[in-house]
Amino acid sequence: MSEKTEKRNVVLGITGSIAAYKAAELARLLVTRGFDVRCIMTECAQQFITSTTMQAVTGRAVATNFWEESEAAGIGHIQLADWAEALVVAPATADSIAKMAAGFADSPLLAVALATRAPIVVAPAMNVNMLTHPKTQENLEILRARGVHIVDPDEGALACGWNGAGRLAEPTEIFERVRNVLSAQDFAGRRIVITTGPTREALDPVRFISNRSSGKMGAALAREAYRRGAQVHLIHGPIHEQLPRAIKCQEVVSAEEMHRAVMATVASKSSMPDIVVMAAAVADYRPSEAAQEKIKKTEKSLNIKLVQNPDILHELGQLKRDERKPLLVGFAVETGEEIENLLGQTRAKLKHKNADMIVGNFAHDAFDLDTNRVWLVDRNGRQQEVATTDKWRVANKILDAILTLG
Ligand code: CTP
Repeated sequence: MSEKTEKRNVVLGITGSIAAYKAAELARLLVTRGFDVRCIMTECAQQFITSTTMQAVTGRAVATNFWEESEAAGIGHIQLADWAEALVVAPATADSIAKMAAGFADSPLLAVALATRAPIVVAPAMNVNMLTHPKTQENLEILRARGVHIVDPDEGALACGWNGAGRLAEPTEIFERVRNVLSAQDFAGRRIVITTGPTREALDPVRFISNRSSGKMGAALAREAYRRGAQVHLIHGPIHEQLPRAIKCQEVVSAEEMHRAVMATVASKSSMPDIVVMAAAVADYRPSEAAQEKIKKTEKSLNIKLVQNPDILHELGQLKRDERKPLLVGFAVETGEEIENLLGQTRAKLKHKNADMIVGNFAHDAFDLDTNRVWLVDRNGRQQEVATTDKWRVANKILDAILTLG
């Protein structure tokens, strides 16, 4: 993945919806990731959010009408259309969608939408009846047929008092779609199953044994694989991550549940994933039985018998060679600071679990952090260190390495 991917020029068009305030959050997400964002606001949009806010968030002058100085100075709408590597209209009202479908150009935003050759992302926001109106649906179809990417609105309580579809999609959802649209689709057509997070092994109805995994690394892998065009199925323990809707998320709690969920994905040859990444911190042991009632503190000491959980990655590694088998990636986590020890454990796991690649990392570099430092060790004897960086960047290095394995 080139670092340049995140330093792209995005024009953010804002139209007159109560959801316009969410455009500030979308702009912030883009700017934080290094995107250069320039806003164009319709007159109506300025009734809901000021151009000063958008200018402050993006650090760039905001285009609001055809007759302002920037137009005269030659950085007007045509330059903006050429500068854009993506145009995102969020929120997009029924009126602006109708005008885009019809090819109107009576505002700077519509003129840019008509003049640009960059991909366009449209995130509608409106009353449910306006959205489901045949004319709006027809207009959305026209845009889709033209290759415009529509981020479907959410369902829920609408500002107009109605309940239903029409709420602007979450800024994170629109953000991930913009990244997806701007990315090389080098994982297109690949099915990838990713596990992440901890598992919880019940002691009784209110207690469990677990670990400190946050699931951030696996969630980053899922987002980046989606961005690069993969069809992603994320099987996760209890985590607090927001993921794009296009990712199939399946929540499990215990290691046994995770085992069943993962094995189900490889049960049929026709739907066999191409890649399985076991990023989950699966509990190696569970209480031999979970008490039906809350355990009382009657004794001075308490012995709990633990039994081993199924080793999912190991079992995947035993799938018959002659059958179609997914490429297997696992993780190895160690405490301490000894790199040679970590690499030794990583190599041993690669062999023992019959995996194609193992990602070695130290607990203190990885757990509950947004960054990680890893060593990628693969079946061809390749060994690569990825110095401490954001987990989404680490995820891309892992995906790059997967591509070299076929
Ligand atoms: N894993 C698994 N099923 C388990 C335990 C772990 O699939 N029951 C996977 C993890 O998702 C990870 C890799 O195996 O990809 C980690 O291997 P493991 O041997 O469990 O590592 P550690 O837990 O670090 O093992 P040990 O405690 O023996 O070092």
